[in-house]
Amino acid sequence: MNRKQISLVLAGCCVGALVGFGLFGLAPLRVHADRDADRDATLPLIANAALKIERGKQTFRFDTFGSEAFWGGRLRLHEAVATLSPAAALNLGLKVDVDALPQPLIQQLRMGRVNLNDSAVTLELLRLNAVVGLTGFFDENGQQLQSVGIQCALCHSTVDNSFAPGIGRRLDGWANRDLRVGDIIASAPDLTPFVDLLKVVHPSITAEDVRMVLRAWGPGKFDAELILDGKFFNPATVNLPPQGVTATLIPPAFGLGGVTLHTWTGWGSIPHWNAFVANLEMQGKGRFWDPRLNNANQFPIAAAFGLGNLPIIDPEEDRITGKLSDLQFYQLAIPSPQPPRGSFDREAAERGAEVFVGRAKCNNCHVKPLWTDAGWNAHTPEEICIESFQADRSPDRVYRTAPLGALFTHTQGGFYHDGRFPTLMDVVNHYDACLSLGLTEAEKTDLIEYLKSLKTQ
Ligand code: HEC
Ligand code: HEC
Repeated sequence: MNRKQISLVLAGCCVGALVGFGLFGLAPLRVHADRDADRDATLPLIANAALKIERGKQTFRFDTFGSEAFWGGRLRLHEAVATLSPAAALNLGLKVDVDALPQPLIQQLRMGRVNLNDSAVTLELLRLNAVVGLTGFFDENGQQLQSVGIQCALCHSTVDNSFAPGIGRRLDGWANRDLRVGDIIASAPDLTPFVDLLKVVHPSITAEDVRMVLRAWGPGKFDAELILDGKFFNPATVNLPPQGVTATLIPPAFGLGGVTLHTWTGWGSIPHWNAFVANLEMQGKGRFWDPRLNNANQFPIAAAFGLGNLPIIDPEEDRITGKLSDLQFYQLAIPSPQPPRGSFDREAAERGAEVFVGRAKCNNCHVKPLWTDAGWNAHTPEEICIESFQADRSPDRVYRTAPLGALFTHTQGGFYHDGRFPTLMDVVNHYDACLSLGLTEAEKTDLIEYLKSLKTQ
């Protein structure tokens, strides 16, 4: 007999005796029974959630979705990786998971006995599965690197640098703003697949041109729309920090619960975008359907190559679709990082909270505590006083109200989709002018301290 049944029996046999105590005497017993029944009903949910989180984590960290057929098989990226020293890899923003290193290697690293200029060490790190977001495929003897595949964690995880810069424990969901994705792709010996795509809009483009475009992205940025529309120059930002570069900053992948639309330009839901990225950007193996990409005016390359309707494949061969549910669940479960102690001025932040909701009107769109609009969280370019270039590269031609929790995890690289505002003061000054707020300097600095204090739920 479990506790629930015991409670029920007790409640039943004692009813007569308890009548004398009146209804007040019975109430606690009934509450007890309810609580136990509730717990019994909840346990399977908790077990299910735990399973989904674990499976989602594995996918987020380690699943290449078969993307090695593209990165290794077609671009031959592994040939470049095989010549990369650990020092060079760290310079490219790649991160090393210290938990994947065996103790003897950790000791040797501590004593400075590992040659960080030796590419053999990089290969060893790949064998250990210690390079965050990058998986090496070796020959049968484990000697020669034959291919590489990539994972979500490449861009959406970093490490806490607890061992050394670039080496530490994984921080899933944090944007890797050091990562030079463009330089990494540009180092591949064969860029024909990109040339073929971009030829739709740039008939005479060469592999060297593609390399130039990729190298211009800089750290922490990637251009998910390049292979859809072939655009790589924004004339409106020539004199701003991105200097015309169209790549967008990698956003965090945590704190997205309750957020309706995702990506800087509100492409869709988390599962939509996860499927989009795994299929089209990472080049994993799956089925993808998004008829909006058939719009040849907006997405000439995607329309020409049928990217909005990837061929139906045998479900046994689909390495993406079956993982979307757990992957989403995992992302939603990642706790929001807490702004470190001392990283903002508490009193100023308290004053800033009033400015945020009141005079500065920030709460009109970044609604507490989601920090994005409740409902359809998208706005026109005019509403935030910027040009429509990037918005026009997405189906709804809008900008998504960026969730503002845990901003401290992504202060590097600037703010807004392309990092056009180097500091939060630049952002606040932009709104001050855009919304004719007339904020005082003190209000602005208080507001910034408040922004730095925000976390997600
Ligand atoms: C090569 C780097 C890269 C990889 C790999 C990558 N992403 Fe992203 N991710 C980005 C960039 C850049 C954006 C912003 C895209 C945009 O707005 O156009 C983004 C956006 C997102 C968003 C939207 C976040 C928000 O604020 O709404 C989610 C969720 C996401 N990615 C999850 C994933 C998952 C899951 C994977 C693996 C299946 C993945 N990403 C792989 C770079 C990457
Ligand atoms: C009309 C709706 C709206 C209002 C009002 C608004 N924002 Fe925004 N905010 C947005 C949108 C949309 C974006 C995304 C811009 C982009 O993608 O480039 C954004 C982006 C930001 C960012 C950049 C986040 C990042 O990850 O880079 C910050 C910081 C910010 N807003 C702060 C504020 C503050 C402070 C106020 C009040 C002074 C404010 N916002 C008022 C809609 C709004």
